[in-house]
Amino acid sequence: MMDMDQLVALCRRRGFLFQSSEIYGGLNGFWDYGPLGVELKRNIREAWWRDMVSAHNELVVPAGAPTAYEMVGLDCAIIMHPQVWKVSGHYDLFSDMMVDCRESKKRYRFDQVCGRWVEAKGQRVFVTSEGLGDDALKDIEEKAIKFYGLRAKQADQLQWASGLEPLATLDLPQMESMRETTAVDVEAAETASFTIRPSKEYDFSRVLAPHAKMLGTLTDPREFNLMLETYPGPIKDEANRAFLRPETAQGIFVNFKNVLDSTRVRIPFGIAQVGKSFRNEITPRNFTFRSREFEQMEIEFFCHPSTSRAWYQYWRDRRYRWYVELGLAGERLRLRDHEAAELSHYSCGTADIEYAFPFLPPGQFGELEGIAHRGDFDLRSHMEGKLVRQGDGLVVELDAEGKPKYRGSGKDLAYFDDQTKERYVPHVIEPSAGADRATLAFLCEAYREDTAPDEHGVPTARVFMKFHPRLAPVKAAVFPLVKKDGMPEIAREIYAELKPHFNVFYDEKGAVGRRYRRQDEIGTPFCITVDGQTLADGTVTIRDRDTLQQWRVHKKDCLAELRERIARGNS
Ligand code: GAP
Repeated sequence: MMDMDQLVALCRRRGFLFQSSEIYGGLNGFWDYGPLGVELKRNIREAWWRDMVSAHNELVVPAGAPTAYEMVGLDCAIIMHPQVWKVSGHYDLFSDMMVDCRESKKRYRFDQVCGRWVEAKGQRVFVTSEGLGDDALKDIEEKAIKFYGLRAKQADQLQWASGLEPLATLDLPQMESMRETTAVDVEAAETASFTIRPSKEYDFSRVLAPHAKMLGTLTDPREFNLMLETYPGPIKDEANRAFLRPETAQGIFVNFKNVLDSTRVRIPFGIAQVGKSFRNEITPRNFTFRSREFEQMEIEFFCHPSTSRAWYQYWRDRRYRWYVELGLAGERLRLRDHEAAELSHYSCGTADIEYAFPFLPPGQFGELEGIAHRGDFDLRSHMEGKLVRQGDGLVVELDAEGKPKYRGSGKDLAYFDDQTKERYVPHVIEPSAGADRATLAFLCEAYREDTAPDEHGVPTARVFMKFHPRLAPVKAAVFPLVKKDGMPEIAREIYAELKPHFNVFYDEKGAVGRRYRRQDEIGTPFCITVDGQTLADGTVTIRDRDTLQQWRVHKKDCLAELRERIARGNS
């Protein structure tokens, strides 16, 4: 298992990722991609767009698909009419439970505070931490030692009465007044495998908060809406309040009719969008995994209700395969179907594609992408108004006066099939991926350490990033073996020929072995070297990053060789 700190250090050292506004101390939950990171993330976005949209052939039935289908794209504004979020449910429901600490003034996501019961000196206390796994256990022990005024060597006086458990699930006599379990949207709690039990009155009198010295400093859990507000225009009042979109999906739904009216697409078809989304996460953490500004790659796929289950199955498998094809294979990637209790307010079936990120405790996975069967919830909401589930169906939610709580657009978003003469509201399958999480997963998966001979043949430790060639920020480096005898001139010619087609890098400085190592560390799959033999017969060596094998090709064939190997997918 790789060490996350080493990857974070490499990302910073080699210009993949920086903390946002680092020279001012950084801003929590925001990240900047450096010169290599921007290439990597663009390659991931472009691979997604190409594989899902521009290279999709609507004339053939893809493996596992019920029929052929069309794909088109959109690029919508980040700020949309505020009614969109009222009708979609985000205004009322898109929240996490949080607790505040009166002593430390810190705020925590309720489902992320874990702790252990411990007893010493006749007092039983629930000591908490914000950490995960072993880090949390260590942190809790250190805090318990301090709380009881013990020395480290007296740690054996602590009697542990429970394992690590979430504060949100405590079910103990003094907390049995917790009363009814309310349905909460736990969708955002990607790694949570429990149900939060919110109540109005919690008894936290024996709880030691993560950064507190005294007991009982936590407030009752409260809902915290995750949408970031803004005020377009000159007047900052309630009437002008808008939101930075928390997902790109709604831009697609509200443009459904525009797309139908302006193109010749027919159901089944999908609309794709890539763009920034914003969520005011209570505790952004784990590098870019949970950020406040991030990028999504979403598809809303519209189909006839009778075929929606089959399409759901298709997209669930197709999207999983996409990650495998780009190198996230093996035990660290999994496809997990949601339990009924986990489903969000609109969903009648959801599967997550998850990756075992190295910062998670062993056995835990973090969400890369969700594939949801959303039925007709979204299009109907934008027609009729905010919907709520009633029995097996969806009805418009009413306010105290019996009027629709949030009105829809009133526009007809039904689809008319001119061949079957049927009019219906299409069902939607939504594969929703995060570009930053995908980038993080590809970075984690790529990180490798091995031993390889250096330029003198001496086995030396090597760090290399085993990116799929399609994703690698730099596809090839071109070197003259030495800076003389006409070698730089030939290397520059090759570089000039490749540059319009690929991001390639020219380097003539230092020992060639060191130049190779520098490219290995940023994941460049091929290094092309002009040497003495090139002067004689026009051939150059191409070196493979992973196997270190070298072979010769004519200098005129470098472009074709790279094209073929990048498309084939292995170096
Ligand atoms: N339209 C559905 C939707 O937005 P979601 O599961 O909330 O669903 C989809 O988000 C994807 O967006 C996630 O699987 C994840 O990859 C990414 N994502 C969500 N919140 C994120 C955050 N705070 N930071 C980084 N990526 C995030």
